[in-house]
Amino acid sequence: MRLSEDFISELKYRSDISDIASSYMQLKRRGRNLVGLCPFHGEKTPSFNIYTENGSFYCFGCGAGGDVITFIMKIENLDYMEAVKFLAQRAGMDMPEETVDDSMSKLRTRVFEANREAARFYYSKLYSPEGSAALNYLHTRVLTDNTIRRFGLGYSPNSRFALTNHLKAKGFTDSELIAANLVFKARSGNGVVDRFVDRAMFPIIDLRGNVIGFGGRIMSDQKPKYLNTSDTIVFNKSQNLFSLNNAKNSGTRRLILCEGYMDVITLNQAGFTDAVATLGTALTTEQAMLMKRYCDEVVICYDADEAGQKATQRAIGILRNTGLVVRVLSIPDGKDPDEFIRKNGDKGTAAFKNILENSGNDVEYRLFKLKQNYDIKTTDGKFAYLSQAVKVLSSLDNRMEQDIYASKLSAEVEVEKNSILEQIKKSERAKYRNDRKNEFSKLSSKISGRDDKINPQHSKKPRATVAEQNLIAYLINNPDKLSFIEKKITPDDFVTDFNKSLFEYFSKRIKDSKEPLTTLSADFTADEVSAIVSIITKYSQVAATDTALLEYINTIKEENLKPTDTDIASSSKDEFDTFLKKLKEKHK
Ligand code: UTP
Ligand code: MN
Repeated sequence: MRLSEDFISELKYRSDISDIASSYMQLKRRGRNLVGLCPFHGEKTPSFNIYTENGSFYCFGCGAGGDVITFIMKIENLDYMEAVKFLAQRAGMDMPEETVDDSMSKLRTRVFEANREAARFYYSKLYSPEGSAALNYLHTRVLTDNTIRRFGLGYSPNSRFALTNHLKAKGFTDSELIAANLVFKARSGNGVVDRFVDRAMFPIIDLRGNVIGFGGRIMSDQKPKYLNTSDTIVFNKSQNLFSLNNAKNSGTRRLILCEGYMDVITLNQAGFTDAVATLGTALTTEQAMLMKRYCDEVVICYDADEAGQKATQRAIGILRNTGLVVRVLSIPDGKDPDEFIRKNGDKGTAAFKNILENSGNDVEYRLFKLKQNYDIKTTDGKFAYLSQAVKVLSSLDNRMEQDIYASKLSAEVEVEKNSILEQIKKSERAKYRNDRKNEFSKLSSKISGRDDKINPQHSKKPRATVAEQNLIAYLINNPDKLSFIEKKITPDDFVTDFNKSLFEYFSKRIKDSKEPLTTLSADFTADEVSAIVSIITKYSQVAATDTALLEYINTIKEENLKPTDTDIASSSKDEFDTFLKKLKEKHK
């Protein structure tokens, strides 16, 4: 069902985008607008803008844009109706009575409920006779009952129907359970069967306290060791972190990033409640930005094996690019934090605290790792080490940091500090040239419209596309000019289909005396909203005069007459002659 125009207007009026965005990120005032580091992609210089005048945002780096509802949809990972509810609650407004959930929101709610019920079921089974081996397993891993309760750990019975029967008796349908990925269709024919069988269960809980999925550990040597919920409508592995719901309240502004569920749980039991883990996949930029909302510093605490060390190098890059301070903790004894703490028995907490305090920053770590590859007693080895080390240092954007490491390197390899600094400068200049080149090619593909996914005709018709965009933006900013514009141009004059549909949409809203942008996020997809806001944003930088308006209109009409490549290829001689005639008439 559609929410009333009045309700959305009132909601937007009460939901100031500057206030709301400020609670997720730091914003600085620039003139009438606000700028900050974009929360939707990793960046170190701010390209995210908030336009207080019309309540919109736009990022020049990644192209994300929209209104306050879109902002909440993106940052809280909600669909349209959920974002509206979220804002309504915040603004103290009741949702309209007749609001029935659309089917997608309804299904999501059911999936959350099924997951919660499943977690309860698994927990109860852990403390039933069937679960004794699993409980014993968790106890041998030195987890206390208190920790088990705190994390809601459980046991999935050794039967294909245990959870299925339980949840069906509670009124859940097959399709709801399939959507939750708790069951799958039985291979033999009809009906569904449990996904998790005879495993110790680890519920994954999001920041609002919803159970969104599970990891299940087998208690033997069979594979896979962990079975996880696949991505569902409520669970996306690349956008969530295990135990962030606990860690965000630790009050440290620091997060300890581990590889596994057990590492996080053991760390929690030892008092380090700021531990989180990825969910069986490599760290993503989205996760790094999510972490940045709750911390300033991340301590990477991956496994000591080669895979763990490789993942560390990768994670350093991602976290640094998000503007986080990064430290790396090396486990001296044992494979991972869980083993390390267990091995140290009663002294586990103190021992971990000690290595945590002594963990070096990411630069020290990278230099240390590099050095292991070379024999710096030989001239060749020294030279090779130095060239690689210079690359690491030139990637830092802090001069002081560079200077400190240049001194250290100089002492280490017995090379003048000044010549090291010189090499760093050289390497930076090369990097600068390279960046410029990349930026230029990015810009040129933007101008040519090659990567415009929303308006695929952009690259074939760049001149028309830009004129159409300008006309649409003009119309939004000057709704009183609609009747004038309509005398000069009709939707059919438009060259590209997407812009034609926008022109029709905004004309209709203006004719119906509605504010053009109010229901943008209800009427378009997130990517379309970004494209529209981009059109409006760019427009504020060009001329908005009547002369300019006429020029846009003329350009569109002119371009409309031009045939496309395919038209020419497939047109008959007659059609082609008619086209030439038209063109001549126009230029008379
Ligand atoms: P590890 O193999 O390092 O396991 O995988 P672990 O965390 O040390 O587990 P224990 O201590 O043996 O119980 C690290 C993480 O990778 C994911 C899980 O999230 C695990 O915690 N993983 C691993 C899977 O998703 N599936 C697997 O089969 C193995
Ligand atoms: Mn482990």
